[in-house]
Amino acid sequence: MTGTPETRASGLLADIADVGRDRMRGGYSRHVFDGAECELREWFAGEARRRGLDLEQDRNGNLWAWWGDPGPDAVVTGSHLDSVPGGGAFDGPLGVVSALSAVDILRARGVTPAKPLGVVVFGEEEGGRFGVPCLGSRLLTGSLPAEKALRLRDPDGTTFADAVRGAGLDPERIGADPELVGRIGRFVELHVEQGRGLIDLGRPVAVGSTVIAHGRWRLTFAGQGNHAGATPMDDRRDPMLPAAETVAAVRRIATSAPGTRATVGRVAANPGGTNVIASTVDLWLDARGPDVPSVVRDVEAAARAAAEAEGCTVELREESWGDEVVFDPALRDAVSAELGGVPALPTGAGHDAAVLSGHVPAAMLYVRNPTGVSHAPEEFAEDADVDAGAEALATVLAGLSA
Ligand code: GLV
Ligand code: MN
Ligand code: MN
Repeated sequence: MTGTPETRASGLLADIADVGRDRMRGGYSRHVFDGAECELREWFAGEARRRGLDLEQDRNGNLWAWWGDPGPDAVVTGSHLDSVPGGGAFDGPLGVVSALSAVDILRARGVTPAKPLGVVVFGEEEGGRFGVPCLGSRLLTGSLPAEKALRLRDPDGTTFADAVRGAGLDPERIGADPELVGRIGRFVELHVEQGRGLIDLGRPVAVGSTVIAHGRWRLTFAGQGNHAGATPMDDRRDPMLPAAETVAAVRRIATSAPGTRATVGRVAANPGGTNVIASTVDLWLDARGPDVPSVVRDVEAAARAAAEAEGCTVELREESWGDEVVFDPALRDAVSAELGGVPALPTGAGHDAAVLSGHVPAAMLYVRNPTGVSHAPEEFAEDADVDAGAEALATVLAGLSA
């Protein structure tokens, strides 16, 4: 790719449409520091260079492209390039291509920001490889201790320490970077909407109001591995049974707790043979809402009762937690005013902007998703809305960096 930068966000998105397609699951599988995500990092570096932006990789593997000398009171925008397994094309990349496009739009409008403008790509926002969402921004801000992160393992057993070493980073330098956080004056993340708010309102763009409290837990059920044919039905301690009952209990408990969303989207039987009664079963719980601790307590009680009834044990471990976030009201209103007044929407999805908001004023822009579906191949945005989103982002950045 050479020549003048592609100004339209929809065109930039088309440029990366073939990277990380998952032929087995459908959609995209792009995980931090894997082949596809590294290819996207290379692509981003090239796009930054073509725009004359100064590129740096921070000590946690997040990428930054600067227009103007990085310094205090910078206006920063961006998102992530990783995906969930079999995810959509827009969750993350839309914010990155819109940020690059916004730089082009500002230049075409003859705007030179008075403040430094940064475009950032955060690593492992989905937690799709190491299990903790927003890993890059949590490490940057110190919300997750480095020692804890370095011990995380991916499904193949590779530690985060080994993965960062493999990516050319120094595990000793992973962790909070207050100097870099101190450069950020305001942060704005554009994201595809993960819901139906804008469809129902008939509008292309909204500003974010709140992010739901959310966390992840791993439940490990242990029983006795054995032969599927030689073991009588009344002589089994099969951990798959309490795991299955727990999945049903999660639905029951969450349904009776107003505002709660709880999901079991991942289960792993060990050793995982058709003719083998499992020795252990791992089950991951994603729970979000106003009173997640009581939901998790109820799930744990149901899991224990089911495990005991089958002669099994269960252990529950928290893998991540994020409090509810209310985005800075003054910034939210300023962003909306720049756009002539757009709706403010809450979200049930987690974001790097929510992590940043604990440290700097942060805001989000959402772009209409006509399917209302996300974390699945059906996630979508029309080109016209994608390009309108980038124009809106450029307008907001111009206002904030003046
Ligand atoms: C990330 O998109 C999440 O909300 O899990
Ligand atoms: Mn996501
Ligand atoms: Mn995202």
